[in-house]
Amino acid sequence: MTLLKLDIHAVRNIQQESFIPDSTINLFYGENGSGKSAILEAVFILGRAKSFRSAIIKPIINFTHDKLIISAQLAQTNNKTIQLGIQLDTKNFFCRINHKTTQKRSDLAYALPLQIIHPKSYELLDAGPQLRREFLDWGVFNNDRNFLLAWRNFKKALSQRNVLLKSKQLQYINVWDKELDYYGTIVDQYRQLYLSRFKPIFFSIFKEFFGHINVDIIISSGWDTSFEFQQVLINDLDKDLRYGFTHSGPHRADFNLFINNRLAKDFVSRGQLKLIVLSLKLAQMQLLFNENGISGCFLIDDFAAELDTLNRSKLLQYLSVMGCQVFITATEISEFGDLENIKKYKMFHVEHGKIKQA
Ligand SMILES: Nc1ncnc2c1ncn2[C@@H]1O[C@H](COP(=O)(O)OP(=O)(O)OP(=O)(O)O)[C@@H](O)[C@H]1O
Ligand SMILES: [Mg+2]
Repeated sequence: MTLLKLDIHAVRNIQQESFIPDSTINLFYGENGSGKSAILEAVFILGRAKSFRSAIIKPIINFTHDKLIISAQLAQTNNKTIQLGIQLDTKNFFCRINHKTTQKRSDLAYALPLQIIHPKSYELLDAGPQLRREFLDWGVFNNDRNFLLAWRNFKKALSQRNVLLKSKQLQYINVWDKELDYYGTIVDQYRQLYLSRFKPIFFSIFKEFFGHINVDIIISSGWDTSFEFQQVLINDLDKDLRYGFTHSGPHRADFNLFINNRLAKDFVSRGQLKLIVLSLKLAQMQLLFNENGISGCFLIDDFAAELDTLNRSKLLQYLSVMGCQVFITATEISEFGDLENIKKYKMFHVEHGKIKQA
């Protein structure tokens, strides 16, 4: 997919801006506080119905407005053009796809698959497992649409079982154990299968940045897989009852990344951590394209942060041939490095919330 035209209304210091991005690389530069991250935030909100910077909507809406609106014309891989729009205020969420209203965030996410790299992206490997599960599930979700149903059914069974555990009503727990086992096993299988396809692509991208270093990703399913999931639920019942929640299952899944058999997050530098996260996210986009023929949108906020000149140039080169649409921000043009070898791009200057093609 490609964003053909983007309209942003009342996002941070952007009052009302429209622009026509390039189908490949788009570079935004401007002083601190000019509104560069706000542009990426707007694109992100259009695809995910949430920000990457704030858990709440209020600070994102321009101070002088009570709602924000972002809309875009989007070319899909089959050359069909669709109209995508989202309106958010502090309480409500309205989304329109081709003039039809939908309340499903997943519809937006399918229409505009996107990934972002920003100064805190290293947290994917550094912080708790929730982020890594979300990362993995984004890939599985886009790779196979049946995953969403299994995942939703699993979540439903999990919350029902937790209600029974809290209220100590054990007479129906078997019913939910069966559901949990059935859908939980499916969710786990989807993740395992996805990872087996993802790994070779990730390894080759990783090599571009790190050379021939031994790297591996090990997934843990969220339970002791030497037992069937249902057996683990039975074994854990006393503990689950005591604490009022289900301890084991795909909701506790995680993955670890090892370099030369050592846990990467324990010893690599911050910049290296960011490069690893970058490689992971690029690999997801590449896999989405290879297997589903969908080219997503890749956002990079604060290009220069923690990446040296050589790695920035490698990254830009990779992105220019990857085929997805890219939005990159930096404070100075020079931070984008040598653009000689980048065949196609558009440059925009951002100033006081205004976007002008440079
Ligand atoms: N709700 C809001 N209403 C109006 N202005 C806001 C709001 N939230 C933030 N701003 C302002 O919007 C401007 C743009 O912020 P943004 O984070 O996009 O800047 P930036 O160009 O990415 O800067 P930097 O280079 O420092 O990352 C800032 O000056 C900020 O103070
Ligand atoms: Mg910024």
